[in-house]
Amino acid sequence: MYIVTVLAENGERDGCLIGFASQCSIHPPRYIACISKENRTFEAVQSADAIVVHFLGRDQIGLARLFGGQTGDDVDKFERCLWHDGPFGIPVLDDVPGWFAARILERLDGGDHVAMLLDPVDADDHGGALDLGFQAVKDIHPGHPV
Ligand SMILES: Cc1cc2nc3c(=O)[nH]c(=O)nc-3n(C[C@H](O)[C@H](O)[C@H](O)COP(=O)(O)O)c2cc1C
Repeated sequence: MYIVTVLAENGERDGCLIGFASQCSIHPPRYIACISKENRTFEAVQSADAIVVHFLGRDQIGLARLFGGQTGDDVDKFERCLWHDGPFGIPVLDDVPGWFAARILERLDGGDHVAMLLDPVDADDHGGALDLGFQAVKDIHPGHPV
């Protein structure tokens, strides 16, 4: 599982928990991340040139609940967690094992999600397990059901 964060064109910070993501190329390094059209984060990524993708371990279950179980339509998630300004002014969550910032190269309408082809341009690795899988979060009721 991952958390995507983004700074919208209008200055709004958004972010959500995602499972639909994968590395898709080694040379050049490329990633794909998919955002549901229902999410508040969707509007923000549509207007953005770049996003930050955070890797998660089991210690980040609280962040997963915040970003997956709440919607920015109702709460400001960034008032409820620790973060700092990262590349391109995108919020970077403090309590994660690692993250990368990436430019959005292309978007593909995949149905109820839009897939973004990502070009990672910056990253940080704090160490620690990246073991927060779907089984550990499947009880979270999405803030925006698809
Ligand atoms: C297990 C799980 C997996 C999820 N996977 C995705 C995903 O791959 N892409 C996505 O856009 N939302 C996914 N979500 C849903 C969003 O994280 C959730 O609806 C969130 O509350 C949206 O927040 P927002 O409206 O502030 O953007 C998932 C949620 C859960 C619980």
